[in-house]
Amino acid sequence: MNAPTHQESPYQRLGREAGICQLVERFYERMDTLPEAKRIRDLHAADLTPMVEKLSVFLAGWMGGPQRYRERFGRVIIPAAHEPFSIGTEERDQWLLCMRHALESLPAEEELIEQLMESFGQMADMCRTRED
Ligand code: HEM
Repeated sequence: MNAPTHQESPYQRLGREAGICQLVERFYERMDTLPEAKRIRDLHAADLTPMVEKLSVFLAGWMGGPQRYRERFGRVIIPAAHEPFSIGTEERDQWLLCMRHALESLPAEEELIEQLMESFGQMADMCRTRED
């Protein structure tokens, strides 16, 4: 049997819009409840519902699906969008922890999870706004 070639995008492999929406819902659920994520929870608005929609639409495009963020919410440059917040390595790692928990709660392949965590790690690192 041939090894899987994974010509599918991460968007397809996660289950398209529905899978990504589930990932993002679980991500903010973790952020809302994990005591280890309290610092980043406090940076966000009380109501996380608008962020579920924003991050889902953003990640769909980022993972190789339809690019709808701009038409829905306007132009975004992710590191620049984080300039108003105080984000150091601790906040970065809290964000990544919530994302790992959320990914691991899905029926996703381990290899895909590691590949996505690598890319999230790079993006999250660019969102830091202060030296520790
Ligand atoms: C490094 C750790 C991060 C922290 C602490 C953080 C925190 C935040 C906060 C506080 C907001 C505003 C939320 C609100 O309005 O209630 C936000 C917005 C956003 N974040 Fe992050 N974030 C991080 C990393 C990331 C990463 C890695 C991505 C993408 C892969 C991302 C995507 C977004 C998007 C799309 C928005 C909405 C931007 C806008 O509408 O202007 N964030 N983030």
